[in-house]
Amino acid sequence: MTTPLAGVRDQFPALRTRSDGFVPAYLDSACMSLVPEATLHAMEEYYRDYPGCAGRSLHRFAEEVSHRFEAARETFAKFLEAPAASGIVFVRNSTEAINVVGQGLPWKRGDRVLVSDQEHNSNLILWQRLGPERGVRLEILRLPDDGTFDGDAFDEALAGGVRLVSLFHTSNLDGRSLPVREIVERAHARGALVLIDGCQAAPHRPVHLDRDGVDFYAISAHKMLGPTGTGVLAGRPEALAGLRPLVAGGETVEWSTLTDHALRPAPYRFEAGLQNYAGVLGAAAGVDFLTRTGLAEIEAHDRSVNARVTRALADEPRVRRMGPSDPAARPSIFAFSLDGIDPHDAALFLDEGHGVMVRSGRHCVHSWYAERGLDGNVRASFYLYTDDSDADRLVAGVRELLERMPGGPTGTSAPTPARAGRSAPSPKRAAGSSAAAARSARPRGTAGRRRAASAARSG
Ligand code: ALA
Repeated sequence: MTTPLAGVRDQFPALRTRSDGFVPAYLDSACMSLVPEATLHAMEEYYRDYPGCAGRSLHRFAEEVSHRFEAARETFAKFLEAPAASGIVFVRNSTEAINVVGQGLPWKRGDRVLVSDQEHNSNLILWQRLGPERGVRLEILRLPDDGTFDGDAFDEALAGGVRLVSLFHTSNLDGRSLPVREIVERAHARGALVLIDGCQAAPHRPVHLDRDGVDFYAISAHKMLGPTGTGVLAGRPEALAGLRPLVAGGETVEWSTLTDHALRPAPYRFEAGLQNYAGVLGAAAGVDFLTRTGLAEIEAHDRSVNARVTRALADEPRVRRMGPSDPAARPSIFAFSLDGIDPHDAALFLDEGHGVMVRSGRHCVHSWYAERGLDGNVRASFYLYTDDSDADRLVAGVRELLERMPGGPTGTSAPTPARAGRSAPSPKRAAGSSAAAARSARPRGTAGRRRAASAARSG
């Protein structure tokens, strides 16, 4: 039995019971997390109480926001155990953080960047573009499907000379994590810089950037209780100093004349124009919430929910789980396909029939599916507010879907989500039996959603 982290769930307004008794089972936190009251409060407080521009005017609103903005930097530095707060650059999301590094490094033609074959588009497309634009060569490290990391294969990939290694910390596909410290040691021994896409790791587990010697680390606050449009590039100060800022403008310079300027040091040279103050302050409040709850506790909680789902579906031969078999090796993610069932149909069925929100498709890692000739799959992701009821509703939904489907692996007829309808509203937050779900059928423009899902199949 999973012990819900005490009092956590009540702090998330999106999880409240709706007036018709419906309670969301939100299992899409790998895409974006929900936000607690504390995050909402911090954002609203900024606009209500001190809506000023940081670092510019001298009045009290401006002073207050300047002070809090820098305090938010300290909060992230502490949370990530970064070498210095001056190495915390606020950006829109991890994609932008990776672009700041990729576009900012002084590449020479023929320089090589090494990524894995399981990277999100945010850590792939940029490198592809830098080929024709800057002469950067893209090398691919193939990872074993069982979630292990082969240090010798990594060394071999480094052997020909690599300028930058850019890898995920935790995969958004299957939840596996890579050994960051070992990667940094091996890469640095060969003279390569290391950029880690930490957006699926930092929300769920302690990160030790200084101890591990990571050069650059990218995160998105919208996956860790913050608002959308906020993220961080954390860098070692010496590594950041080697980057040309991606965007030029106000607050990035010490002085300017009509013909020249002098850049400020990091982080300010990278933060051009007015910043998303409310967003950053909300993101810092989200981090404070995570710190109060405890990362070790959150990781253990994810693992426990995942173990419950994994156990419950282990006897279903038509459920093809992805990634490491042990849920402890992929705590936040349970990714699967169902033989003979389109993943988008499955996702719609789970939502319409059971109020269970998952993501389906290729999860912005088209390359991984293309290599294997696959069409995508379904991903349930867990976080600190997920509880046993959510897990059980997912399991019930998957079981009902399999029962409704005629065949095994060769079954082709797609289920009709509209027949199942919305989850039986239950003030007690119980999943509601499949029969109850079917009885309470309330089609909600399902045909349109199915068309949209078809159109979005590539995602
Ligand atoms: N990276 C996000 C996901 O995996 C969008 O859903």
